[in-house]
Amino acid sequence: MFLDLAKALGGSSLSIWVQSHLWVTPLLQSVHIVMIGVVFVAILMITLRVLGKVGADETFATVWNRFSPWMWGGIGVMALTGLVLGIGEPVREASALSFWLKMSLIAIGIVSALAFGRTLRPLAYVGDAQFSGGAKFVAAGTVVLWLFIIFLGRAIAYDVEVWGSLHLG
Ligand code: HEM
Repeated sequence: MFLDLAKALGGSSLSIWVQSHLWVTPLLQSVHIVMIGVVFVAILMITLRVLGKVGADETFATVWNRFSPWMWGGIGVMALTGLVLGIGEPVREASALSFWLKMSLIAIGIVSALAFGRTLRPLAYVGDAQFSGGAKFVAAGTVVLWLFIIFLGRAIAYDVEVWGSLHLG
């Protein structure tokens, strides 16, 4: 049933348009890749503030307000370009376990970024060393999580079956 759904999506007019205009996929991939840089740098800067390595003379809220719009905007553009890329080859994407793992980790990454911002923004810390070891650990873990999401994206693009593929239908 799931395979039928993916096949039907592959026969939709948008999918056929993506498949028949050969410049669309590389263009969307390029935007998707540039946005990886934007999102990752924004997350890195926020993390480095928690670790006290950048902007230690500013509050966390200042650094969060400076970089989080880039993070959310980049994720939004990635969702849009990724959606159209996926519609271009729905069966290949839906059968890759790495694709579903990537989607789940993105959901976790978004929820944890929301919780992180909400929890740390009210703390008007200036200087290094004030964030708890737990906050620093979570911040560093976030960077590792997004690195793993990037790795999964590359693995899917190369058809590397990191955890095997799903046999739909
Ligand atoms: C938010 C929803 C997203 C969707 C629906 C999505 C979907 C996709 C799709 C369909 C592809 C093409 C894979 C292929 O060639 O078979 C792709 C590529 C990729 N995605 Fe995403 N993606 C999303 C977000 C992200 C995020 C947040 C990251 C990492 C920060 C990411 C990293 C990558 C990477 C590294 C590639 C490979 C690019 C390439 O080598 O051409 N994606 N994505």
